[in-house]
Amino acid sequence: MTSQQTGGPLVQLTGVNKWFGELHVLQDIDLSIDRGEVVVVIGPSGSGKSTLCRTINRLESIEKGEISIDGQRLPEEGKQLARLRSDVGMVFQSFNLFAHKTILENVMLGPTKVRRTSKADAEKRARELLERVGVSAQADKYPAQLSGGQQQRVAIARALAMDPKVMLFDEPTSALDPEMINEVLDVMTSLAREGMTMIVVTHEMGFARRAANRVVFMDGGRIVEAADPQTFFTNPRSERARDFLSKILDH
Ligand SMILES: Nc1ncnc2c1ncn2[C@@H]1O[C@H](COP(=O)(O)OP(=O)(O)OP(=O)(O)O)[C@@H](O)[C@H]1O
Ligand SMILES: [Mg+2]
Repeated sequence: MTSQQTGGPLVQLTGVNKWFGELHVLQDIDLSIDRGEVVVVIGPSGSGKSTLCRTINRLESIEKGEISIDGQRLPEEGKQLARLRSDVGMVFQSFNLFAHKTILENVMLGPTKVRRTSKADAEKRARELLERVGVSAQADKYPAQLSGGQQQRVAIARALAMDPKVMLFDEPTSALDPEMINEVLDVMTSLAREGMTMIVVTHEMGFARRAANRVVFMDGGRIVEAADPQTFFTNPRSERARDFLSKILDH
């Protein structure tokens, strides 16, 4: 495969800065994520969590600094970017499945169109992945016929079909009804246990405690604090993290 196993961090951000016009939305971000590491990113609304995710697969450009995936610096554009971008799987709050394609077709699309995988191989792999996320019985249905939790699990399968090196999740459960949240978190927890490198923006602190190696707290475009979950939740160092935790853990 394309994996080059450099031995260094899988994802590395060095001195990353981004502005939206006047707004300095990412400020001097340094973040290094090892293979198999699960990093949960938390912080108040507007602190830059989604923007951070979007810069990692270059849905957003950066003005200053460097981002590399598996030792290779993300280029601005071109073929190389398309390849490196497909190393990064992304799952959003809204599932964004293609409404007029079946569940199976949704999962096969990336591999057949981008990777030029044969239909037969793509279908075999898609069925395995649908099995893995627990929706294989829905393969021939259309997205609208599935619950939100099922659709989000399909979105995870679709991202995995590209064999990404790292998976980014941006609030994957926040659009779901409460009873569907756990079925998605369970899939993510098993992915984490199987060694997938993951960056997860979430308010689900149970997931953070259970699955994260590290919690990164952002505020005002900066990483204010980063620690293992046990340390972070029991003994946050900064006033801002303490304040944030008291708000989200109280209800
Ligand atoms: N495309 C854009 N153009 C201009 N400003 C933007 C754009 N996207 C985000 N912003 C601003 O950048 C800041 C960070 O936004 P971002 O979406 O990264 O925050 P967030 O931490 O993900 O917040 P939330 O918890 O609400 O999802 C916010 O002030 C937001 O209004
Ligand atoms: Mg966001």
